[in-house]
Amino acid sequence: MTQDEQKQAVARAARDHVAANIGTHAIIGVGTGSTANFFIDELAAIKDRLAGAVASSEATRVRLQGHGIRVFDLNEVEDLPIYVDGADEIDMSLMMIKGGGGALTREKIVAAVAKTFVCLCDQSKLVQTLGRFPLPVEVIPMARAYVGRELAKLGGQATLRENFITDNGNLILDLHGLSIADPVALETAIDRIVGVVTNGLFARRAADILLLATAAGVKTVTSATIPS
Ligand code: 5RP
Repeated sequence: MTQDEQKQAVARAARDHVAANIGTHAIIGVGTGSTANFFIDELAAIKDRLAGAVASSEATRVRLQGHGIRVFDLNEVEDLPIYVDGADEIDMSLMMIKGGGGALTREKIVAAVAKTFVCLCDQSKLVQTLGRFPLPVEVIPMARAYVGRELAKLGGQATLRENFITDNGNLILDLHGLSIADPVALETAIDRIVGVVTNGLFARRAADILLLATAAGVKTVTSATIPS
């Protein structure tokens, strides 16, 4: 299977998972990126079962609306039973690095509200230790240089993502050269730097379910199936 075929397979599995686990007229959270795009295209097939969706980015909002799926402002919504999104890396505790597409802050907000986070990945994203993928950090523009110096003290090299402004009007610093032994501690330490909006470690709010595309088909991994 090509990588796109794997993304298509997990997207279809996610659509079936959503259909089986939501009541009628639910609102679900929808992530950002190429895997999420496959999911949005699949979601169109069950859109009559949904009241609509909350989008984690402008790109996702446009794609959902293109399929005739109503998009709600998160402030209008109290319950999100499910949030479906991809990741750049995921470990066996279902902690992730996200933000390759720069939507990390809105993704983290929608994930915080959602009851269940369903992550969609192909096998290349599953790692023993997070950190090979550069960790995105969203930064208020005037704090760019200061935050870069503070991130260097945590042991990585921060590079500015060129020609990129987030949906929130901020910059992204990508932190290279990390091997993240304690994702919760690093997520907290980076969030404490003044000028950081958020960072792409999803450790305090990890995924609940991983739909993992493999050559043998889509596997479902949950915290219950992880060996302790
Ligand atoms: C966007 C994200 C994406 O979920 C992540 O980058 C994975 O994207 P893709 O499915 O294209 O590999 O966090 O901000």
